[in-house]
Amino acid sequence: MATADILPPFMFLLLFSIFRTTLSTNSPDITADQSALLALKSHITHDPHNLLATNWSTSSSVCNWIGVTCGSRHHRVTALDLSSMDLTGTIPSHLENLSFLQSFNISHNSFHGSLSTELTNLHRLKHLNFGNNSFGGEIPSWFGYFGELQSLLLYMNNFTGVIPSSFDNLSKLETLSLFNNNLRGKIPISLFNCKELKFLSLFSNFLEGSIPIEIGYLSKLQIQYLDHNNLKGTIPSSISKCKELTFFSLYDNFLEGSIPIEIGNLTMLENLDLGLNNLNGK
Ligand SMILES: *[C@@H]1O[C@H](CO)[C@@H](O)[C@H](O)[C@H]1NC(C)=O
Ligand SMILES: *[C@@H]1O[C@H](CO)[C@@H](O)[C@H](O)[C@H]1NC(C)=O
Ligand SMILES: *[C@@H]1O[C@H](CO)[C@@H](O)[C@H](O)[C@H]1NC(C)=O
Ligand SMILES: *[C@@H]1O[C@H](CO)[C@@H](O)[C@H](O)[C@H]1NC(C)=O
Ligand SMILES: *[C@@H]1O[C@H](CO)[C@@H](O)[C@H](O)[C@H]1NC(C)=O
Ligand SMILES: *[C@@H]1O[C@H](CO)[C@@H](O)[C@H](O)[C@H]1NC(C)=O
Ligand SMILES: *[C@@H]1O[C@H](CO)[C@@H](O)[C@H](O)[C@H]1NC(C)=O
Repeated sequence: MATADILPPFMFLLLFSIFRTTLSTNSPDITADQSALLALKSHITHDPHNLLATNWSTSSSVCNWIGVTCGSRHHRVTALDLSSMDLTGTIPSHLENLSFLQSFNISHNSFHGSLSTELTNLHRLKHLNFGNNSFGGEIPSWFGYFGELQSLLLYMNNFTGVIPSSFDNLSKLETLSLFNNNLRGKIPISLFNCKELKFLSLFSNFLEGSIPIEIGYLSKLQIQYLDHNNLKGTIPSSISKCKELTFFSLYDNFLEGSIPIEIGNLTMLENLDLGLNNLNGK
């Protein structure tokens, strides 16, 4: 008290300005989110319904912008849903500053380009849906670093290369949807460390090699589409460990041998499609 009383007024000003400087350099606020979203807006080359053009205006708070949701605790952007807005554009690296983002949905648009390092900082992401766009290039391995990820949907794009082996770290992943891309190579065994997987959709790619016996690790798997690929070898009997399986399709591959009798143990199975293979005893 006594000390405060004798502090000259300019000391308060000095302390205050140091405090403010510290605040603005160490804890980015909603203005960081605003700049990131304005950068995204500037990377949209076609917005036929003028949704962002008129609505994403600095005269209103970011949290009131269409498609934007802010969290109540930190007042930062937690969800971005621009799905089905007929947008064309690319993803700028500025989005790395949306550090509180948990859900990111730009499905059913015409976003294109490849994903290099743009989003590596978004480690809080739980849901990412880039489905039905025109993204190309490889699926970045840094998706594997997002330990909170529950759903990763990259279906109906033009992704090439292999499924990254880094996905083994996705211990909360429940949904992985990569169908309708140009993915090649084997199904990585690391994928079967995603013990929470319930929905796995890899159909209409060029995946090859055999179905790993490790598939039996996915004890919570309910739906699995591996159809329209180039898978070879036999169906592993370990599939019978996926007790929750209701939909299972291997249609249109190069599988051979006999159908494992243990499939009969899958009591939840409603739909099994093994057509267009070279299996015996069908
Ligand atoms: C932007 O859109 C949101 C949601 O439709 C609406 O609540 C808000 O008033 C709009 N803001 C402006 C400035 O048009
Ligand atoms: C993303 O958008 C699609 C299409 O509108 C919708 O079906 C889906 O539920 C959304 N996903 C998430 C995680 O918000
Ligand atoms: C993210 O924010 C920081 C601090 O405001 C800024 O220096 C940096 O340029 C931003 N990153 C991008 C890619 O815009
Ligand atoms: C893909 O998105 C487009 C809009 O960009 C939409 O018209 C089309 O119906 C979608 N296709 C599917 C199969 O959902
Ligand atoms: C997996 O997670 C562990 C611990 O969180 C980390 O040390 C490791 O670098 C991660 N590996 C990959 C490939 O993400
Ligand atoms: C997909 O990518 C390949 C090369 O990676 C390219 O030749 C092809 O035109 C692309 N297709 C579409 C629909 O973008
Ligand atoms: C699975 O099926 C096989 C062959 O029909 C049978 O011998 C075995 O006891 C079953 N295992 C379980 C755990 O039900």
